[in-house]
Amino acid sequence: MRLNVAIDGPVGAGKSSVSDAVAARLGILHLDTGAMYRALGLTALRSGTDVQDEKKIVALCRKLDVSVSHGADGQHTFVEGEDVTGLIRTPEVSMAASAVSRYAEVRRQMVRIQQKLAAETDMVLDGRDICTTVLPNATAKIYLTAAPEERARRRYLEMKEKGQEESFEKVLEDLKKRDEQDMNRPVEPLRQAPDAELVDSTHLSFEETVDAIVRKVEAKCHG
Ligand code: DC
Repeated sequence: MRLNVAIDGPVGAGKSSVSDAVAARLGILHLDTGAMYRALGLTALRSGTDVQDEKKIVALCRKLDVSVSHGADGQHTFVEGEDVTGLIRTPEVSMAASAVSRYAEVRRQMVRIQQKLAAETDMVLDGRDICTTVLPNATAKIYLTAAPEERARRRYLEMKEKGQEESFEKVLEDLKKRDEQDMNRPVEPLRQAPDAELVDSTHLSFEETVDAIVRKVEAKCHG
């Protein structure tokens, strides 16, 4: 049986780094599905395609040659063979990714690629629709969240460390805007799947959060 762990949650919940650590503890890969929407967002920005223009974005997505590879330093994301891993983490690309991910046809294409990868390999997948759509039969399903202010605080510190100076207020405002966009889009909005287990990391350390998820996965595997 494939070991597939599905982790969904809002922006800044720490999904990506927590999923990395959970995957390492379980000895499996981690697929960051947001990176694929980010790759499309970046491509739209680079080509000057309006992210509000659904037809053009869907056409761009159909042609998009996106792939991922996993090395010792985690996932690398490629567009037409170019490593865009570092380029897809800017605030502009975050907003563009959130905008293009609203479109049903874009989601259909991304979901298909993600399901294929998960069927081939044991992995942890993190995103917004993994429990609900990509892997409804995952071994374990987790909804990882934290209070908006705490998520914004973590994002602010992370950006500061990378030299991306932005005020805390702006980070919180952007985060609420993206929450709003991700949770209220008509197609597959972000929500906790009825059978996903809630992990609220507001008052948990990074290690405690990872432990809590690994314990839940182990309980599913052995129990
Ligand atoms: O997880 P992230 O911040 O890298 O994701 C970027 C955007 O992509 C996010 O605003 C919502 C979208 N996304 C999605 O709709 N479905 C996923 N499985 C992953 C990300």
